[in-house]
Amino acid sequence: MNTYDLTGRVAVVTGGAQGIGFAVAQRLQASGAKLALWDFNAEMLDTARAKLGAETLCICVNITDATAVTEAAQQTEAHFGSLDVLVHSAGVAGKNAPLDEYDLNEWRKVIDVDLNGTFYVNRAVVPGMKQRGYGRIVNIASIAGKEGNPNASAYSAAKAGVIGMSKSLGKELAGQNIAVNCVTPATADTAILKELKPEFIQYMLSKIPRGRLLDVAEAANMITWLVSEENSFTTGSVFDLSGGRATY
Ligand SMILES: NC(=O)c1ccc[n+]([C@@H]2O[C@H](COP(=O)([O-])OP(=O)(O)OC[C@H]3O[C@@H](n4cnc5c(N)ncnc54)[C@H](O)[C@@H]3O)[C@@H](O)[C@H]2O)c1
Repeated sequence: MNTYDLTGRVAVVTGGAQGIGFAVAQRLQASGAKLALWDFNAEMLDTARAKLGAETLCICVNITDATAVTEAAQQTEAHFGSLDVLVHSAGVAGKNAPLDEYDLNEWRKVIDVDLNGTFYVNRAVVPGMKQRGYGRIVNIASIAGKEGNPNASAYSAAKAGVIGMSKSLGKELAGQNIAVNCVTPATADTAILKELKPEFIQYMLSKIPRGRLLDVAEAANMITWLVSEENSFTTGSVFDLSGGRATY
């Protein structure tokens, strides 16, 4: 396993209680970072802290609540004295349905968590990063945001929005030693799949040239490099984790 140096860096992982976020948290910790996990699943947060150690700051926060997200950033900065890294992994898939049958409330929920929540989380951490003149951000988008998955219009639209927002913010902050990038994973076997129909999961798997699902550790590996100090040039960009599915 390659080693990255995040010694002393303070890293927030949203959605860090499980799945890709938890795998990232493990890798960041192994690289020397101090961890703050932001997630709204209190039970899974407790489980994560039991595995990562009591020094892990766990904040139970719903990322659709902009005020609570800002308070989580303030709490993290007060606790550790800094906030250098954000890996924004919290997200939902939403239900599968054709667009013309897509439930209005379900659409609003997916956009609220996956797009508005991404805005709130980035908005909360950027002021401190600007003040300190350092930051590394990775937002987790999805291959669905590039390719568009049928029967997942809300998710595909929200994740395309995450890609656009990351590119925009990357350019805004490029002169301030703050890198903002996003990654576009294909399917990984995590709890998020429970929201989806089995035939939809099969569809997504059939689209991956590697012929298998993404391992969360593979995602953590790329993301950890992207949030390291060594990533001193690349920003406003989209990194592929789709096992060959992406065509651009
Ligand atoms: N697993 C995949 O196949 C896949 C593929 C592409 C992209 N992604 C993206 O990766 C990210 C992580 O997904 P995962 O597979 O690890 O899923 P997961 O369900 O294992 O983890 C998501 C975490 O986000 C938290 N969360 C959800 N809504 C929240 C909210 N409103 N406020 C706070 N926390 C909230 C959940 O409690 C959970 O711990 C998501 O953004 C997802 O869209 C996943």
